[in-house]
Formats: sequence, C-alpha cells, structure tokens
Amino acid sequence: MNQAIKIEDYPFINNEALFIQKSYFREYGIKAVYKQFRPGIGRAWSRNIIKLYAADGTGLEIGVGERTIAPVSRTILSDAFESHGAADMSLAKVFFRADEIPYADGSFDFIFSEHTLEHLANPLKALFHWKEKLADGGRIILFLPHQQRCCDIYRERTPLPHIVEDYKKNMPDDDQTHVNDFYENVVLRGLTPHYDHYNKEDLASSGNMHHHVWITEDLAELFQYVGLDVIFSEDCVPDRQDSFVIVGEKQN
Ligand SMILES: C[S@@+](CC[C@H](N)C(=O)[O-])C[C@H]1O[C@@H](n2cnc3c(N)ncnc32)[C@H](O)[C@@H]1O
Ligand SMILES: [Zn+2]
Repeated sequence: MNQAIKIEDYPFINNEALFIQKSYFREYGIKAVYKQFRPGIGRAWSRNIIKLYAADGTGLEIGVGERTIAPVSRTILSDAFESHGAADMSLAKVFFRADEIPYADGSFDFIFSEHTLEHLANPLKALFHWKEKLADGGRIILFLPHQQRCCDIYRERTPLPHIVEDYKKNMPDDDQTHVNDFYENVVLRGLTPHYDHYNKEDLASSGNMHHHVWITEDLAELFQYVGLDVIFSEDCVPDRQDSFVIVGEKQN
C-alpha cells in the first residue's frame, strides 16, 4: 500500500476562527452574518463533542465534503471525490478513498467522519483500516444519519451479519446490492432531490448512495466487532437532528 504521504507535508489551516467565517460565507454569502448563530449552522454542541473526545493531537477527517466542524488547525481534511452531489465542491486538501489512507499506521489521535460510513459498500473494511491508522488510545468519532430521522426512513436497518458478509466478500465500493432499495425507497420518493441527476446505475460508484442504514445501537455493535470501546454516544445530535454520534476508543 502507498504510504508515501507525510503528515508534516499537509498544509494545516492556522486560523480556525477565520476559516469558519470564510466557510460560512462560501456557503451562505452575506446571509452568513446572521445565519451563523443558528444552532444547525454553528454546530456548537457537535464542535464541543469533538473538543471533548479529540482534545489534542492530530486527526484525519474522512469524507469532509463541503463543510467541516473538525479543529482544522490539526485535522487533515480528506475526501475520495472532488465534489459531492450536484455542485458541492469539497474542502478536502488530500484525496483518497476511505479504505486507502496513505499515512502510516498509528499516525492519528483521532479519525472523524460525518455522514460518510453509510456511503461505503464495505464499512467494516474501512473501520478496521481506520483503527490501524489510530495511535493507541486514539478515537473514532462518527456522526451518522439515523434511520428514523433521515432519508432512509422507509428502508430496513442493515443487520451486523450483512456487514460481516460484505467484509468477507471484500465488497467493492460500486457494489450494486442496495441500489434498488435506495432507488425505490429514497430517490423515487423524492427524498434526495439533489441526487436526481444521477442514473440509477451510477449511484453506487458516485459515492452518493447510502449503502447501509443504521441507528446508534447498530454502530455500537459494529465498534464492538472491530474491537473499539464505545466511550460516548448520543441518539439525537441537537444541532444535526437527523444524526446520531458515537465515539469509539482503541485500547492500548
Ligand atoms: C453526505 S456527504 C457528507 C459530507 C460532509 N461530511 C457532511 O457531513 O456534510 C458524503 C461524503 O462522503 C464522501 N465519500 C463517498 N464515498 C467515499 C469513499 N469511498 N471514501 C471517502 N469518502 C467518500 C463523498 O465524497 C462526500 O463528501
Ligand atoms: Zn451491503
């Protein structure tokens, strides 16, 4: 595997406060001046969770997309795709797939990811890989869509044995298993208007489809399978209400 990239070569953002202001302007234009005080935009609660569970050290964000609540002065912003959906240009400064992280094992004190694990056909492969990239005592912090409060509400939850099978089959990212389910129960119901320009056949490989569907307990089970201790979870993220959050720790 290519492990050529050094963390020291990454252009970390020095001024976090300025970066946050710029990001709001990028997304909302002049309306950012008052919008930033809305909880869903400022995300004070979620930022605080990251402050608590990733208090120091260097982190990696996977699937950053066009927004982040990570501490950007010490978090590498990564994505596999330059844009997500129709026009959302990624904030990522480095590009690689979630299960092909080109940094040495044990490099990170935390790995943070929002609304991305559900886009992977083989989430266990990614979680084992993320655990390898963590230092001992490192944490994985995930904010994920909750089946009951997101576009997947008409889909069945994905049981652990299915995820284990995907791992054993070394399922590739463009696996078509869940395409019909996603198309019929999400796209055709009009729950993802921003993905309407995708052909059904391209959904999986575009990185835009939710392969799997979970609630908090399902992720706790997955963490247990991977050998991560769950040290925090919250079923409903107050400033991103379609989401739950879960934090797992790699033991020494
Ligand atoms: C729903 S967006 C979430 C973006 C942002 N984190 C947020 O919460 O708004 C999903 C993100 O996962 C990224 N993604 C999809 N498949 C990926 C993969 N195999 N590896 C890394 N990132 C991936 C997409 O490019 C996109 O930025
Ligand atoms: Zn699957």
